[in-house]
Amino acid sequence: MEKRIRKILNEAAKEFESAGDESEIDQLYVKYFGKKSPLNKLTKKISTLDPALKPKAGQNINKAKSTLEKLFDRAKRNVKTKKASATKYIDVTAPGKKITIGHLHLVSQAIEEIVTIFSKLGYSLQSYPEIDWDWYAFESLNMPKDHPARDDWETFFVKAPPNPKLGNQVLTPHTSNGQVREMENVKKPPIRMINIARCYRRQIDISHTPMFHQFEGLLIDKNISIPNLKGTFDYFTTNFFGKNRVTRLRPHHFRFTEPSFEVDVTCDVCGGKSCRICKSGWLELGGAGMVHPKVLEAGKIDPKKYSGFAFGWGIERTISMKTKIPDIRLLYQNDIRFLEQFS
Ligand code: DAH
Repeated sequence: MEKRIRKILNEAAKEFESAGDESEIDQLYVKYFGKKSPLNKLTKKISTLDPALKPKAGQNINKAKSTLEKLFDRAKRNVKTKKASATKYIDVTAPGKKITIGHLHLVSQAIEEIVTIFSKLGYSLQSYPEIDWDWYAFESLNMPKDHPARDDWETFFVKAPPNPKLGNQVLTPHTSNGQVREMENVKKPPIRMINIARCYRRQIDISHTPMFHQFEGLLIDKNISIPNLKGTFDYFTTNFFGKNRVTRLRPHHFRFTEPSFEVDVTCDVCGGKSCRICKSGWLELGGAGMVHPKVLEAGKIDPKKYSGFAFGWGIERTISMKTKIPDIRLLYQNDIRFLEQFS
């Protein structure tokens, strides 16, 4: 039987090789794989063999079948490449293929820009946990347990055993958790850091997503006062938004800064005159203030020697004040038609 199989394969190899086109190959396929194929005939003969020889015969036939399959595939490929090379020509007038190049997401672009602007002022980028202890997110920032001010941060708590000293874990609702961590790391001022991280809050609507980004600035040194803070914001604003945009400070209250402000920037639509979008000429950028002595103490920095300012702003919000985005949620829907506008 082995001899017979070899003969079949040799014949098949010759025939497949000399086949001139696809239809000839298809005919050969029927010849070698159809019901009346020589291998099928041999298969039927297996039952008449001595039982000891049956398994080997079966294996040989199967092997032969897969060799035939390969011959068939190769022949098909050969005819195809022959055909393709026969019709190949170069149309020098055909337009070239456009290569599409991706680009950074709008949020990543803004992060790069913000980091560049602040690095020119000597701030270094740090990164602090996005899941952190209650101590860093609230308590060290002068918000004792059960303090009502905590309600402003619609926090997600992590179900995990609390740390006896640091409390529960939370998904950071703001980047201010980096303040005391930075003081612990640097130990002795001067400090100039920005901390950019994802933040999480239980809020979703046209101007909120449950995950968003903030950037937190912290500067601590000797003799730091409000004019330093104002100058820094003006520098940022003109560099990020453009020369003719200015900031103003509006009194506000945060537990971790005293005094506290909300920082506004002039509306780019009306240039500060008041319009339908801003209603007052101003758009609110975010919070800021002079670091509260209790926060400095929590970071083991002597408030009698040092003072500082801090600020924390939403990146998505900051973007939407520069590039008009009707709904912040669009940033995270991954709709390429939206994203491609910002290359
Ligand atoms: N963490 C505040 C928030 O998420 C914003 C903020 C206000 C940050 C004042 C600061 C600050 O550093 O000084 O609403």
